[in-house]
Amino acid sequence: LPTTPRRTVATFTTPHQSSSISVIPTTVDTSSPEYAENTKLMSEAMSRLESLTRKAHEGGPPKAREKHLARKKMLPRDRVTALIDPGTTFLELSPLAGHELYPEAEVPCGGIITGVGVVEGVECVIVANDSTVKGGTYYPITVKKHLRAQEVARENNLPCIYLVDSGGANLPHQSDVFPDREHFGRIFYNQARMSAAGIPQIAVVMGPCTAGGAYVPAMSDESIIVQEQGHIFLAGPPLVQAATGEVVSPEELGGGGMHSSVSGVTDYLAVDDGHAIVLARRCVSNLNWPKKTAVATVPAKTYEEPVHDPEELLGIASTNLRKPLPIHEVIARIVDGSKFSEFKRDFGTTLVTGFAEIYGHKVGIVANNGILFSSSSLKGAHFIELCAQRGIPLIFLQNISGFMVGKDAEREGIAKNGAKLVTAVACADIPKFTVVVGGSYGAGNYGMCGRAYSPRFLWMWPNARVGVMGGEQLAKVMEMVGKEVDEGLKDRIEKESDSVFSSARLWDDGVIPPQHTRRYLGLGLNAAMGGRNDVRAGATKFGVFRM
Ligand code: COA
Repeated sequence: LPTTPRRTVATFTTPHQSSSISVIPTTVDTSSPEYAENTKLMSEAMSRLESLTRKAHEGGPPKAREKHLARKKMLPRDRVTALIDPGTTFLELSPLAGHELYPEAEVPCGGIITGVGVVEGVECVIVANDSTVKGGTYYPITVKKHLRAQEVARENNLPCIYLVDSGGANLPHQSDVFPDREHFGRIFYNQARMSAAGIPQIAVVMGPCTAGGAYVPAMSDESIIVQEQGHIFLAGPPLVQAATGEVVSPEELGGGGMHSSVSGVTDYLAVDDGHAIVLARRCVSNLNWPKKTAVATVPAKTYEEPVHDPEELLGIASTNLRKPLPIHEVIARIVDGSKFSEFKRDFGTTLVTGFAEIYGHKVGIVANNGILFSSSSLKGAHFIELCAQRGIPLIFLQNISGFMVGKDAEREGIAKNGAKLVTAVACADIPKFTVVVGGSYGAGNYGMCGRAYSPRFLWMWPNARVGVMGGEQLAKVMEMVGKEVDEGLKDRIEKESDSVFSSARLWDDGVIPPQHTRRYLGLGLNAAMGGRNDVRAGATKFGVFRM
């Protein structure tokens, strides 16, 4: 069988000269034309991201917001801000969800705000309906986003707070929100299973909570309701009148006074939104939940900021994914002190592996530096085994055009060696995090912990692209199988590979500014490693590695 002399030779000429435990040196020339060009194109991508995010953060149309405020209700984003501890950061999930998804209506943020926030020192998942977006009703993407937030709570063992203000299912979309496994009913299934798993859930009813939605507070551990504002009923007054002829006001049928003193569906009665939030914070303080964020419990532990400026990532990353992205330069701007202890530095060099720290959390890094060969796949599988054995979370930096193809690669067993990497990624029972910093193509997406491999969080840079292959190649393949290809197909494939297109559909947890990657990872690590989490070394049971 052919050996791999070409790549072995290449490793000897690698320009990366650091010792295996040291500060990563940089060769970035911030005065080069290439750096200037990258910065210009990335700042255009960043401006687009910022303006889309700002628009999404506004919520529903001005008329709906005015109506909401006139009812003396706090806007949903203000509710979230009031709920979390002052000075802490809300790790928002997928603010671009729903972008250009429905031709008939804009659904900013998918009509629901979700994320991880610190409440009374405890990391909690927060799910807040935005009733300024079509009455807070559930579009298919709203359901998907709600379920994803519950998944984040379950996987990371975090208490969950629901700020409810929703008209329930969006009726014209009923066939896409109601009957299937991952539809509306799954929310309550999850509530029951999460509760059984010991995850506390608190509901704050700040608006309507109709039909199926009534189960959100009814299935929570503790529920708070705002008087003369929150309403819980299986059918609202018009439906009751139609069904039974009974005429009843909303307050009488399902108001806070009734539910807190007669039915017992709610446990605390609040006078307004502000009071309800105070009560919710008090509920969290009574969870007896360990306040174990990295900063709170390890005061003696200090960390260093990267030696190299994270802002420089904007000049290092390119929107032209054909240009190689020097991955050591990226790692150097993400990890504490830019310190990286590289594993198997001179073997399978197209995959970079090694240990580092992020805000004092020990992590294993698996990062693409070219195409995946058999050697790099084997190295990746080996390194993932090490981290699983030691209980060290893994960070995948994904920039991958795929696994090597061709006669030599196949004879060398790229299929079985790639499969070893995929097996290792799938089975490693430790927190995994993925950041797509460039391309995410083909099976490379799988080997590098794409969405289907359940990373705790997956973020994309604005220049990142995801797809089976690029538009150009896809068109060529289609031509080869006898189909006539017009420009329209290529354009559509390019559009569908865009990071915003991905985020609108919740294939990721958000498009993030490259220079803030370290912060996002730090917040993600706090969520995954704090509280009642016990990341056990050696708990992973791997499947069969085909030799
Ligand atoms: N499906 C689809 N759209 C809905 C909807 C539903 N279930 N409920 C409300 N909407 C739309 C309205 O048509 C309106 O659209 P527009 O802005 O294009 O005019 C928008 O959401 C806001 O509704 P509106 O009634 O003006 O706002 P509101 O704040 O006064 O009341 C509700 C909101 C949700 C309390 C009220 O609309 C309602 O009771 N809806 C029906 C709830 C229901 O029975 N759901 C069954 C779920 S299983």
